[in-house]
Amino acid sequence: MAIERTLSIIKPDAVAKNVIGQIYSRFEAADLKIIAARMVQLSRAEAEGFYAVHAARPFFNDLVNFMISGPVMVTVLEGENAILKHRDLMGATDPKKAEKGTIRADFADSIDANAVHGSDAAETAAVEIAYYFPALSIYSR
Ligand code: PPS
Repeated sequence: MAIERTLSIIKPDAVAKNVIGQIYSRFEAADLKIIAARMVQLSRAEAEGFYAVHAARPFFNDLVNFMISGPVMVTVLEGENAILKHRDLMGATDPKKAEKGTIRADFADSIDANAVHGSDAAETAAVEIAYYFPALSIYSR
């Protein structure tokens, strides 16, 4: 199994609920290592840039407004099969459809405020990681 990196964001709703540590515990229990981390208050331009691929979707403005509504915790996670493992831990985009025991089922309120973001493929992970972290601020171990 390949060692991968993925970008993980704890969104403003979960930061406001004070569950950062509970979510990170799940990553650690699944053998994902935090190799870079920062708390960020995104500007509108930064959020629009990050979600540019979704610019034509009807929920784009709602998504951007939500992501700038408070600080987010951004981390790079590293481990075996990290991208899929992290997505499995998150659960489905819509918390109503997320499997019991997943982060979204346990901490998210709606599809708009769904607690976490995770990269969906190796190529997007590389782009997303570079969006937030210069190479020298990532501490693989
Ligand atoms: S996925 O898994 O990223 O492909 O999910 P997708 O359904 O394509 O959604 C892309 C991102 O948009 C968010 N989203 C929404 N935001 C607000 N309102 C509605 N209705 C909505 N539907 C989807 C979804 O949470 C994804 O954000 P990230 O940050 O990537 O999780």
